[in-house]
Amino acid sequence: MKKHVIIFEARGGLDKGEYGIRKDSIPIIEALKKRGWSSEIIFYHDEDRGEIYRYTIDTADAYISRVDPGNLVNETCYFQMLRELVNNGVVGLPHPDAMIAYGAKNSIEKLKGSQIVPEDVYTYYHFETLKEEFPKRLKNGIRVLKQNRGTSGEGIWKVEVVDFIRYQGDIPLNAKLKLTEAKDNHTEYKTLQEFLEFCIQYFEGNDGMLLDMPFFERIVEGEIRALMLRDRVLKILHKKPINKKGAFSATFLSGAKYRYDTKEEWPDLVLTLKKSLGTIRKRLGNYKLPLLWTADFILDTDENGNDKYVLGEINASCIGFVAHLELSENIADEVLALLDNEHT
Ligand SMILES: Nc1ncnc2c1ncn2[C@@H]1O[C@H](COP(=O)(O)OP(=O)(O)OP(=O)(O)O)[C@@H](O)[C@H]1O
Ligand SMILES: [Mg+2]
Repeated sequence: MKKHVIIFEARGGLDKGEYGIRKDSIPIIEALKKRGWSSEIIFYHDEDRGEIYRYTIDTADAYISRVDPGNLVNETCYFQMLRELVNNGVVGLPHPDAMIAYGAKNSIEKLKGSQIVPEDVYTYYHFETLKEEFPKRLKNGIRVLKQNRGTSGEGIWKVEVVDFIRYQGDIPLNAKLKLTEAKDNHTEYKTLQEFLEFCIQYFEGNDGMLLDMPFFERIVEGEIRALMLRDRVLKILHKKPINKKGAFSATFLSGAKYRYDTKEEWPDLVLTLKKSLGTIRKRLGNYKLPLLWTADFILDTDENGNDKYVLGEINASCIGFVAHLELSENIADEVLALLDNEHT
């Protein structure tokens, strides 16, 4: 073994520290050093990818990807470089196709019918399917439509039919909709026809799609994020939407209140998630679980009046832990255990 790990980062973004480095990357390097390994950060640029590729192959046993693909000019090039690295013996933390599968909004649909995702969840890949199917789904009640690419609640719409009880069959194209965007909880009104046309933008590009799921009203009690180190829950982040009528967004910029809890405070959630790990792994392409990832849950109530947890989103790229830098020790231990395993 070379006993060297390379951390990939991207330039730009607002959450960086000195020299444009993520504040929680240096602690990972320090923790690896303490264990007799070396590690360094490389900023990925498309132009340098040949050189970065060769250098990584020559010097490193593994890479840790800490790049938000949304910040890259061309994410395809980056993912292709990672694929080549993995195919040529560098351990990918995570595998690029795991990052893509976990991070895409349709990951939720792939888990439908499991303990953590209801049946009533759909992905639309074409405008025609949205036009055909969505008016039928609206009969089931309030929906949430999610674009694939946005972050911080952009293009995440709560969709309510105004005067819902007026309609018997399919919701007609001239029905009025009340739309609330998770970006800032602002509300606008459009007819169904207007809204459908507005959604054309979300199908542009290779990975354009919309996820359609029921709206869970207990979101006002908070979105509950499990911060995961492969199969282990490290921490729980509780994100409570701003206390304002109609607000449902747990994104930081919309004013939601964030609080860290221990996993011991959420035993049922932890148990449910642990039981679902096999299904998550299998249905999302059978890759090894990512090194660092998050699973966001919303509370719901089952037929017997008991709490139940619904998965709303997974993130598997550029997970930060600046509020708990001590976790770098767990991360370093996990990386070394993993590499040890690969080589025995
Ligand atoms: N099915 C749902 N029911 C109720 N609220 C929801 C639902 N899905 C999402 N939300 C709310 O909308 C917010 C944004 O949705 P989501 O996290 O899926 O999108 P995002 O733009 O990718 O955000 P992020 O920046 O966290 O990646 C959530 O934090 C949650 O508050
Ligand atoms: Mg989210």
